[in-house]
Amino acid sequence: MASLVTPEIESLTPYEAGKPIEEVARELGLSDIIKLASNENPLGPSPKAMQAVRAALSEGHRYPDAAAFRLRERLGAFHGVEMDELIQGNGSNEILELLIRTFTTRQDHVVFADPAFVVYKLASLAHGVPFTAVPTKDWTHDLLAMAAAVQPNTKLMFIANPNNPTGTHVGREQLSKLLKEVPPEVTVVLDEAYIQYVSADDYADGLTLRGLRERLVLTRTFSKIYGLASLRVGYAIGPKSLINYMNRVRAPFNVGSLGQAAAVAALEDQEHVERSVRENAQERARLHAALGELGFETAPSQCNFVFCGVKRPARELFNALLKRGVIIRPVGPEHVRITVGTPRENDRLLGALKDELGGSR
Ligand SMILES: Cc1ncc(COP(=O)(O)O)c(C=O)c1O
Repeated sequence: MASLVTPEIESLTPYEAGKPIEEVARELGLSDIIKLASNENPLGPSPKAMQAVRAALSEGHRYPDAAAFRLRERLGAFHGVEMDELIQGNGSNEILELLIRTFTTRQDHVVFADPAFVVYKLASLAHGVPFTAVPTKDWTHDLLAMAAAVQPNTKLMFIANPNNPTGTHVGREQLSKLLKEVPPEVTVVLDEAYIQYVSADDYADGLTLRGLRERLVLTRTFSKIYGLASLRVGYAIGPKSLINYMNRVRAPFNVGSLGQAAAVAALEDQEHVERSVRENAQERARLHAALGELGFETAPSQCNFVFCGVKRPARELFNALLKRGVIIRPVGPEHVRITVGTPRENDRLLGALKDELGGSR
């Protein structure tokens, strides 16, 4: 019998998410567990967003606004862009997939980095689109090599700035050069899921680069700094013509009304964002230093996580910490990614690491 699916879908393994706290509790019989595996905001959502969700719940029997009018209106005002330049997504994850579904076929080609956010590869495979995954250099996007990987049939290039899982960024000069040089047919996607956490002076917000090429799409999310990962709200900013095509492919009610209400309220609470940025910056610096003292090699993170070479099998370290109630994320044979938690959570992590490395079990 002919295969039910394409060879690419056959080759896929489902996306491996950070291990949920409840699962670890169930499997290991532990109670006090901390999760530093999915780059969530440890401060939680803004109280204003929580209030908005409670209020929106009474209309839970109604379908959400399919056009997410209010959300796009607020985002338009916030970013200084037109509503027609904005599209909402079920997390930015859906937007990334939508870009592939809307703009590529099996005859086309996609470029992204390796390692980078794994969804670029998963979505390309799922849709049968050939791709080139360009190795990072010093754990940073190698933009020269990425530009060189463009073929006549390349339709999309994904650049996560800053990148997940490495946490590194590319600077304004390099990025501007790439945006000017890549052929105009290619849609360049700047995935800015972690933009608020960036502190590097040479970083360029994609909004300031829009004049450099027509086909430039920025993706953002409410899952990280805004602490709304569970409500699944993301968005893209791009030229109206591209957004229009994506809207033709998008499922009608892709963001629920609780998510839309929460996102609008969260956007208004920039104090919560600022506090989250401040606390993350402090703890990120502390983690970098402490992990270095433990003999690990870290990449310079501009995000709310730290990518770390642990010089031993990453799975083993992951499992050992799991037994101590600390969930991190193995992301390579000898690399892990650790989300920056609250000071107390980071103390727990560092204590568990010291115990583990000291061999005292
Ligand atoms: C670089 C990057 N882009 C996009 C996403 C997708 O996030 P969401 O779908 O929750 O917006 C993530 C999530 O981890 C990410 O790390």
